[in-house]
Amino acid sequence: MEIIILNSAEEMSKKGAEIVAAAVKRNPKAVLGLATGGTPVKMYAELIKLYKNGVLDFKKARTFNLDEYVGLPGTHDQSYRYFMNENLFNHININKKNTNVPDGLAKDIEKSCAAYEAKINAWGGIDLQVLGIGSNGHIAFNEPLSGIMTRTRKVAISQRTITDNARFFKSMNEVPKTAVTMGIGTILKAKKIILLASGSNKADVIAAAVEGPITHLIPASFLQFHPDTVFVLEKEAASKLKGKY
Ligand code: GLP
Repeated sequence: MEIIILNSAEEMSKKGAEIVAAAVKRNPKAVLGLATGGTPVKMYAELIKLYKNGVLDFKKARTFNLDEYVGLPGTHDQSYRYFMNENLFNHININKKNTNVPDGLAKDIEKSCAAYEAKINAWGGIDLQVLGIGSNGHIAFNEPLSGIMTRTRKVAISQRTITDNARFFKSMNEVPKTAVTMGIGTILKAKKIILLASGSNKADVIAAAVEGPITHLIPASFLQFHPDTVFVLEKEAASKLKGKY
């Protein structure tokens, strides 16, 4: 596990973009695991800049997103498919056929989750997975009590996360109560992982994930098992770490 602490959310976003860019430059067909939420938005803007400046080419890049709300079509402005199109895919030269987001409308969710896992494997696995972190330690929609072996599946979203995510919806009632998410086991199979976090509201959970015991109460703590995970932290989010890194 590597910890990088930076002075601002801008620097965190640039560092994240630099790591993603390096993966795409090393392998133009890289398989990227992508995240939504407020945290990676500026990192995606940096990647768009690099593409527009001719530094990066996404023509052959391939992506799998972590999760999607159940019941929201890709045209809904709070669906994660819509988020990805708006914040990244529509602004770069990626082939949309090479972008995957779990299907929140699948009639047979179990089958669709198994197919998602199979596709990740068939495409050679995820080279670089980008993560954010929920204030309760969730990664993707793997809420506390999610096991280390979990795979892509339908899950209930915790009340804490519903409250956190309500800011994106008109009212709390509109926040979906279930989602389809890659599992912890799916995420840990990625060759490299970067987790971005900024803001003092993430300080406690970052300290727990990095320095606390490995526990399913803080799903992000399972990243301590992974051989190549980098936490890219803005200084407020890192402020409760006890170690000097
Ligand atoms: C959502 C997503 C997570 C994300 C988290 C944190 O619940 N499912 O993948 O990491 O929110 O979001 P934010 O970056 O807005 O704090």
